[in-house]
Amino acid sequence: MSSRIAVLASGGGSNLQAILEYFDSLGERRGGQVVMVASNRAGAGALDRAARRDIPAAVLRSDKHPEGEPLADLLETYKADMIVLAGYLRLVPPDIVRRFEGRILNVHPALLPAFGGPGMYGNRVHHAVIESGVKVTGVTVHFVDDQYDRGRIIAQWPVPVFASDDAGTLAARVLRIEHLLYPRVVDAVAAGRTTLANCGSAASGIMDTRPAFTLLPHEESRLAENIDLALGC
Ligand code: GRF
Repeated sequence: MSSRIAVLASGGGSNLQAILEYFDSLGERRGGQVVMVASNRAGAGALDRAARRDIPAAVLRSDKHPEGEPLADLLETYKADMIVLAGYLRLVPPDIVRRFEGRILNVHPALLPAFGGPGMYGNRVHHAVIESGVKVTGVTVHFVDDQYDRGRIIAQWPVPVFASDDAGTLAARVLRIEHLLYPRVVDAVAAGRTTLANCGSAASGIMDTRPAFTLLPHEESRLAENIDLALGC
């Protein structure tokens, strides 16, 4: 199976870039190809990244951009059969969410359902994480339904929160994991290995989701000796 992927982005597009580069590394083994990139912001860096690779890039029609193109028309024009939200800050119209059920993905920079929902995006997420005092945050990739950040979770990966963190340092650490996790999940769904029906099961083909910092046997003793570090207080 090879999917025709439309990417929607509102910002700089580093997740788009990570997906494009991961697909390059897979060559013929990749599960799909990015056929179009669209943004609700004419100045979005994601559009520049697409243009640099000769991938069709479009501005979506909105009150702010009446000259833009309707999303439904773009999806039809490029025969997209999968949608990837890569830092897209608008709700996808419900009729399109329904039409692409199980074929529309999002990445969120926290471990949903915590720190998610309307208004929780960008550094607001990381500020809330730090304010809460949790010691572990992470990245979530999920199917999109008609509510912000509520669709079925496909994969998560933990990221430690350090006492010295501010929103910027934490965002950078989380983004690095996004760039590793998202492309691999996008590819698994694009190739049909992971579906709404089997996601979260061993059959889904998502790589081993042991935590990035699983303590290996020889490290467990270090935890015992440094329990004050784990306590972080
Ligand atoms: C990422 O932090 C992602 O988690 C969130 O929006 C940001 C997009 O960054 N959904 P970029 O535009 O991909 O660099």
